[in-house]
Amino acid sequence: MAVVIGVPASADPGERRSPIVPDVVKKLRAAGVEIVVERGATDGAFLDADTLGEASWVDSTEEVLAAADVVWVIGPPTDAVIAALRPGTVLMGMLAPYASVERIRSLQEREITAFAMELLPRISRAQSMDILSSQGAASGYQCALIAAARAPKFFPMLTYAAGTVRPSRVLVIGAGVAGLQAIATAKRLGAIVEAYDVRPDTREQVESLGAKFVDTGVSAAGAGGYARELTDEEKARQADKLGKAVAACDVLITTAAVPGKKAPLIITEAMVGGMKPGAVVVDMAAETGGNVAGTVAGKEVRVGPAHVVGPVNLPSRMPVHSSEMFSKNLFNFLAPMLDAGLLVLDWEDEVIAGTALTHAGEVMHAGVKNVLGL
Ligand code: NAI
Repeated sequence: MAVVIGVPASADPGERRSPIVPDVVKKLRAAGVEIVVERGATDGAFLDADTLGEASWVDSTEEVLAAADVVWVIGPPTDAVIAALRPGTVLMGMLAPYASVERIRSLQEREITAFAMELLPRISRAQSMDILSSQGAASGYQCALIAAARAPKFFPMLTYAAGTVRPSRVLVIGAGVAGLQAIATAKRLGAIVEAYDVRPDTREQVESLGAKFVDTGVSAAGAGGYARELTDEEKARQADKLGKAVAACDVLITTAAVPGKKAPLIITEAMVGGMKPGAVVVDMAAETGGNVAGTVAGKEVRVGPAHVVGPVNLPSRMPVHSSEMFSKNLFNFLAPMLDAGLLVLDWEDEVIAGTALTHAGEVMHAGVKNVLGL
């Protein structure tokens, strides 16, 4: 029997991405996979029965879950969806693995083989599967655009009949995938860009985009190419050096994250208080606690002289390309598991084993177990 991929509609009204797109439907069909989609699941990405390709359409989540061997989602499923999954179902998507012990327990009890794509090992072979990177790029791009639209100044230098306006100064904190895209976008719009990250490798990447690296003397490369949490002494040194750069910029974009942890609080209220009147702060880490004191997820608030924006679900603002990237990443993750139309999981494969959150009633990921005390 052919493998069936099911795509239920998201319960989140703010989610416009679709985990399946026409190119991926073609590839799945060529690999002998069948596809069942809940009506409405792809609407936000402007896809329907006419444009998606060869798939069966059903009217309810229950019908999708009853038919599917593999369920593709964008974000974590609701309790009701988990309760309706057939035992042994393979679930793939962004499952926010560190966010909820209850959800992990439910997946475990239902004996779901859950792959949380956030856990994907950051190795070369897995780059084409890396949803964190593709959606991070969309987020970083959006942060720069939000900042430019909100700023009371031009980003580029502009010469007009009566003189010249100076370009805006943009400071980006956190130069991972999202931060680098924010830097590149702000540069393309003509701003003068400075950036800072605790991982020393990022200096070269920042400079290659034409931005200046702010050196605080604090270096904190951690395991797996990620940053580690800073000590209190390091945080104090960082704050001291960054304070000057924050006060000098017109726009601050923060994207710093440490896997499995609340976002590091890097910018204090006093630092925001020292910014220029009308300064704009876009805190991409708003959803996970914020890098900036005073950020409110999903809102724009006034903190002293600055407007602090805490955007949520940035990739969903550009659902066509975000969906394309997301869906291709999922396909590239699934493809090596397909063998003559059947699903074969090789638990010796570090990509499969490293991305698994739960399987056969067990919590599989050592890092998640450790962080959540499971
Ligand atoms: P992330 O989203 O986890 O964090 C964003 C950035 O915040 C990171 O650059 C981190 O160093 C920085 N950060 C953390 N704490 C900070 C602090 N206190 N102050 C300033 N900056 C702070 O990072 P992302 O973009 O998901 O990935 C980072 C790493 O993963 C890099 O080493 C990157 O090269 C690697 N990577 C590898 C891939 C692969 O080989 N498949 C794909 C994508 C990324």
